[in-house]
Amino acid sequence: MSFPLERPRRLRATERLRAMVRETTVSPANLIYPLFVTPGEGVKREIASLPGCYHLSVDEAAKEAEAVERLGIGGIILFGLPSAKDPVGSEGYDDQGVVQQAVRAIRRATKELLVFTDVCLCEYTSHGHCGVIEKGEVQNDPTLGLLAKMAVSHAKAGAHCVAPSDMMDGRVGAIREALDEAGFASLPILSYAAKYASAFYGPFREAADSAPQFGDRRGYQMDPANVREAMLEVRLDAEEGADMLMVKPALPYLDVIRAVAESADRPVAAYNVSGEYAMVKAAAAKGWVDEDRMMREILTSIRRAGADVILTYHAKDFARKAD
Ligand code: PBG
Repeated sequence: MSFPLERPRRLRATERLRAMVRETTVSPANLIYPLFVTPGEGVKREIASLPGCYHLSVDEAAKEAEAVERLGIGGIILFGLPSAKDPVGSEGYDDQGVVQQAVRAIRRATKELLVFTDVCLCEYTSHGHCGVIEKGEVQNDPTLGLLAKMAVSHAKAGAHCVAPSDMMDGRVGAIREALDEAGFASLPILSYAAKYASAFYGPFREAADSAPQFGDRRGYQMDPANVREAMLEVRLDAEEGADMLMVKPALPYLDVIRAVAESADRPVAAYNVSGEYAMVKAAAAKGWVDEDRMMREILTSIRRAGADVILTYHAKDFARKAD
């Protein structure tokens, strides 16, 4: 049966009809909004590379979290800018660190908003790498204990879920064991399982002041050309105890999201990263694209690819206009 009997346009005639047969939806409840916490008080400084996003002191982060909760957004993920960096990233696992303080303040200020924390050393190390350095190289196993310590200190502060983004081998297992021993057996882990060495992190590294001071991250983050390797990463993280699995970035890796969604028996998250957001903002500022429609199309495509959850800097803009 084909034309003139088949006329797919019939179901495109009105918005009511289109909405009724729409296959993919995005709700604010699916979204996680990243926040960057900085030392001080009363600080709210727009991040040049991420227009509409701010460096926030703990008090301002708590206010922002309230606003995010009111918008119906599922959760936030916290990144920290420490007051001082050192070779082992000490402030990252200090109970008085800026993220730990922010978690406590945000938990007091909100009711149900889910508080995720990014677990990684790169914002806290003087060399900007995601692990400790010996002999000029990022060392895997000596890094695991520090990541586990960081996760436990986030848990003690009241985080609902920890999200390791460092890409060291074995870190999910190390974190799971440390959380269980510290009495946090019920605290879930969202692992950045398939995280690629991507140029799309550029604006974030400016925002988090986390660019590596020498070399690059290709010795631990994944090669953009690989998808079979993503399957391995995802399987290992799941076996080590990851409750949710993330693919990052999102847009250039929709095929990877699809493959992970089809093979994994856990929820899949995708990180619509800083460079993806900055491209939209920059083109919109030039008047070249319709920002709102582009944002919707992007978030819909990430969901259509198979992501349950999306981490995105667009979350507030999306939620504001959701209804
Ligand atoms: C830390 C981390 C990065 C991002 C999230 N966690 C940067 C990196 O790996 O260099 C990137 C997020 C973004 O670009 O929005 N390891």
